[in-house]
Amino acid sequence: MTVLKMKIVVVGGQYGDEGKGKIISHLALADNPEIIARGGVGPNAGHMVHYKGQKFGLRMLPSGFVNKSSRIMIGAGVSVDPEVLEREITLTGTKGRIFVDRRCTVITKEHKEMDATAALSAKIGTTKTGCGPAVTARAARNAMLAQDCEELKPYLTDVATEVNKAKNVLIEGTQGFMLSVLYGTYPFVTSKDISASTIAADVGIGPTKIDEVIMIIKSYTTRVGNGPFHDEISVEEATKLGFQEYGTVTGRPRRTSKELHWDDLRFAAMVNGATQIAVTKLDVRFAGNAGVREYKKLTPEAKKFVEKIEKELSVPVTLIGTGPDAEDVIDRRK
Ligand code: GTP
Ligand code: IMP
Ligand code: MG
Repeated sequence: MTVLKMKIVVVGGQYGDEGKGKIISHLALADNPEIIARGGVGPNAGHMVHYKGQKFGLRMLPSGFVNKSSRIMIGAGVSVDPEVLEREITLTGTKGRIFVDRRCTVITKEHKEMDATAALSAKIGTTKTGCGPAVTARAARNAMLAQDCEELKPYLTDVATEVNKAKNVLIEGTQGFMLSVLYGTYPFVTSKDISASTIAADVGIGPTKIDEVIMIIKSYTTRVGNGPFHDEISVEEATKLGFQEYGTVTGRPRRTSKELHWDDLRFAAMVNGATQIAVTKLDVRFAGNAGVREYKKLTPEAKKFVEKIEKELSVPVTLIGTGPDAEDVIDRRK
């Protein structure tokens, strides 16, 4: 498959934390996109990117920043916290090639305070990053836009026009389908839809212009925050299995299920219009696969698991994560 002249949307298929940061950084390096544009909610996301011995924890910046020749952009649908953005630009040294759509909603101090004190934060277990209140302000026609924010002036552009002019664009989703305000476990969800169609709209691309949708799933299921979650196991059991994780934004222990939730994943693949699946942490689930970069070198049980995913979802598994680094990926697209 040639990846030139393509617009690819990447989304999470579970409850976020599927390893989008890692798969997106791989795609950024492998496909060399002109533009990497991020959609989704805002700095409630937490993405870990490991590359060449360095480790980056990001909340605002597109994870594809590791490709130094790509321009990186934040689409109009994303709420932007100028403080978090500036910190991450400094951390990653991306000044000069990072751009923000002039129409983005600005997250203010008040939004963060509301998110931290609201009764909702206790009920839902929000990330307290001000995203929900900023989205609410936008819907109430009471939000500040990036074009009116002094700190964001150096970065402003029209992302929609830029991504439509470019040929090879990687579009990053954030969160995961089960947290969608429309399709997830309402009311225990984030404040926006985050399915592929909305992510494309967030950066200003129409549905007829999207070539591929890659849905990422982790080889077991985790959820951070409150809400329904079936086949949940204890922290002790998850630790014993090597599955226990802690949130990058909040530090909270993630809830774990060692099962893949097939009915949810089939529905997610359908609504997202997934044309490819990426599976992460295959090495965590099956010993003997760490760092493998060729499909034929996977253990028989790991291969059987990949085949089961393809059969259950009727979508090919094209990318497989076998370690933390951006380059620890089996890429079957070529
Ligand atoms: P997203 O929010 O989807 O980007 O995931 P995340 O980055 O929030 O997840 P987390 O903070 O838990 O970080 C994932 C960690 O797992 C990072 O350190 C990644 O490098 C690592 N990781 C991602 N994919 C794999 C994989 O396939 N195998 C292993 N062993 N580690 C992985
Ligand atoms: P909010 O998006 O901060 O309002 O939080 C609403 C719910 O979504 C909470 O359960 C959060 O833990 C969850 N959430 C939001 N963003 C992410 C993410 O990027 N990864 C995992 N959970 C998230
Ligand atoms: Mg995350």
